[in-house]
Amino acid sequence: MRIVTYLSLFVASLLAGWLLLGGGAAAGAPGAPDHVVLTWTADPATTITITWRAPAEAAAGVVCYQEGETLTATPQQALATATDLATDAGVWRLYSATLTGLAPKTRYAYRVGDGRQWSPVRAFTTADPEAESLTFLVFGDSQSIAPYAQWRKTVQRAFAAHPDARFMVNVGDLVDTGKSAGHWHAWFAAAEGVIDRIPVMPALGNHECYPLGTGWRAYWHAQFRLPQNGPDGQKNQVYSFDVGPAHFTVLDSQQSEQRQRGDILTPQRQWLDADLKNVNAPWKFAFVHKGPYHLHGGGNPQIRDAFCPTLEAHNVNVVFSAHDHGVARTHPLKHHARAAEGTIYMTTGRSGMKVYRDLRAHPLHAFFHNPLDQPNYLVVELTAMTATITTYAQDGTRIDAFTLEQRKR
Ligand SMILES: [Fe+2]
Repeated sequence: MRIVTYLSLFVASLLAGWLLLGGGAAAGAPGAPDHVVLTWTADPATTITITWRAPAEAAAGVVCYQEGETLTATPQQALATATDLATDAGVWRLYSATLTGLAPKTRYAYRVGDGRQWSPVRAFTTADPEAESLTFLVFGDSQSIAPYAQWRKTVQRAFAAHPDARFMVNVGDLVDTGKSAGHWHAWFAAAEGVIDRIPVMPALGNHECYPLGTGWRAYWHAQFRLPQNGPDGQKNQVYSFDVGPAHFTVLDSQQSEQRQRGDILTPQRQWLDADLKNVNAPWKFAFVHKGPYHLHGGGNPQIRDAFCPTLEAHNVNVVFSAHDHGVARTHPLKHHARAAEGTIYMTTGRSGMKVYRDLRAHPLHAFFHNPLDQPNYLVVELTAMTATITTYAQDGTRIDAFTLEQRKR
């Protein structure tokens, strides 16, 4: 009887560990390439960056690719560079390659591997630099408990309903614990089939910095290869890029989580001013995990003072934030007050399982919704003259929609 009890406890503890890691051995080295993710590190019209996790015994990292939807016997090949990431589930070998010299507005098929073990064949589309229209997806906090079932449902349904989306932005707190192989494995596994077809351009959230210290940075930097045009010391966490008719700026609001690095906000503000100064794109969007107007009845003066004067001076159209797990948007604002032509601050809700029951609107909010019943996502549809931002519940129900007209210049 006692042996049975101990055996039960042993099995239960093994099961708990398996669940915690999001699938036991799957959080360790895989049997075939997985965690395949697309990002942009350079021109979206002519390049794409592909990063993946390889089996421990992988001899090399290779991308095979060619125009079209399928691979023939003689695709082009690009060699990837390897990074060994020491995780709490063993060493992950991550490969990354940037394909260059691609044709704009063109479909490419690809697979990754080492010549013996390959990922499934996927396809992506390079950006059209002349495009006046563009659709992209935005996701708030996906942080969950493995296996991230709600995040899976949200991202898979969003892309199925909007297959014309050219990329996605995740506005931070992708995972609950940034220094955890199990959480990252669950996040990547849940998004397979989407993040290997359209690029992911993520913002850093506070949960990516947990447990506090410096160890989490290796996870972020190894798994997401992003534009290196940010301020010194904050590259790959702060960056900007251009696609079609829009300029996108991604900021880092994690001052309190990175206080050992000193002031990270002032260098960003100076960089932000320079970044936005020469933008000619009709639309400007910014992303920052902790927004200036939060949903606990107040504001965030640290973030507001650091970024809002610069964002508003350069007429950024919409600033997307996360962190609160609620959906809200302010009236157009300038200098912390309503303005005819101001910046809208939009909180993007939650794409994972975590909810807050005590959310409430700020007086400057024009719309507020607490998505207690199900997660949500945003679709942004741009033309040269209009930007329509629609918030959908996970099941496709429309929660909110508004359209901005292009400002006169
Ligand atoms: Fe957060």
